[in-house]
Amino acid sequence: MATAKPYDVTGKMIAASVLSADMAHLAREIEEVLKGGSDFLHLDVMDGHYVPNISFGPAFTAACKRSTTAYLDAHLMVSEPLKYAGPMVAAGAHGITFHCEVVENPAYVAKAIRQYGCHVGVTLDPETPIERILPALDDVDLVLVMSVKPGFSGQAFKPEVLKKCEAIKKRLRPNQRLEIDGGINNDSVASAASAGVDWFVIASAIFDKKDRPAAIAELRKWMG
Ligand code: DX5
Ligand code: ZN
Repeated sequence: MATAKPYDVTGKMIAASVLSADMAHLAREIEEVLKGGSDFLHLDVMDGHYVPNISFGPAFTAACKRSTTAYLDAHLMVSEPLKYAGPMVAAGAHGITFHCEVVENPAYVAKAIRQYGCHVGVTLDPETPIERILPALDDVDLVLVMSVKPGFSGQAFKPEVLKKCEAIKKRLRPNQRLEIDGGINNDSVASAASAGVDWFVIASAIFDKKDRPAAIAELRKWMG
């Protein structure tokens, strides 16, 4: 079983997104990226409704949980986050992040998810203004800024979200994390780090590489 550092809210963290893993060898893939230097796993749950793609849900999360003790950071790209937050925590997710675009009252949803005893995150698409998440800021542990249109790994980073990262970071308490997701690679990671990002979700720039530990080490070099 792969083990990783326990959850720690401080410092720059690499969250390996298993969306780009070879699902036929899930346990082996997880072990490789965690032993290879990733801090924890990012799980992209897609419902084919909020986003055009369908990925996986609680059963897959439970399979990840059987393979590792690492922190499982679940990103719900679904239209009904409250329907899936409980089953995802029961399956082993430690953190649940929902999209502000699908809810009327993000503070209410954040409080409802917290009742499951997990960390709570709110996220926003590249074109969504930060005003949509501000009402929930007191009720979340992290804000996830999407740097691609959600739905697929392997897309190009949108540098225009960096301003948004800076604006959100200024409003966060020291124990709240700023996470970024989409198109993070050796070219984009340094600018995101400078904009105040703490957690970096990375799929293709790790899993598409032959030497994952070397790819992770290189990314970390640019994170500062
Ligand atoms: C995109 C997902 C991301 C994705 C990132 O909708 O939320 O987590 O796996 O993939 P890369 O790092 O390849 O852009
Ligand atoms: Zn994601």
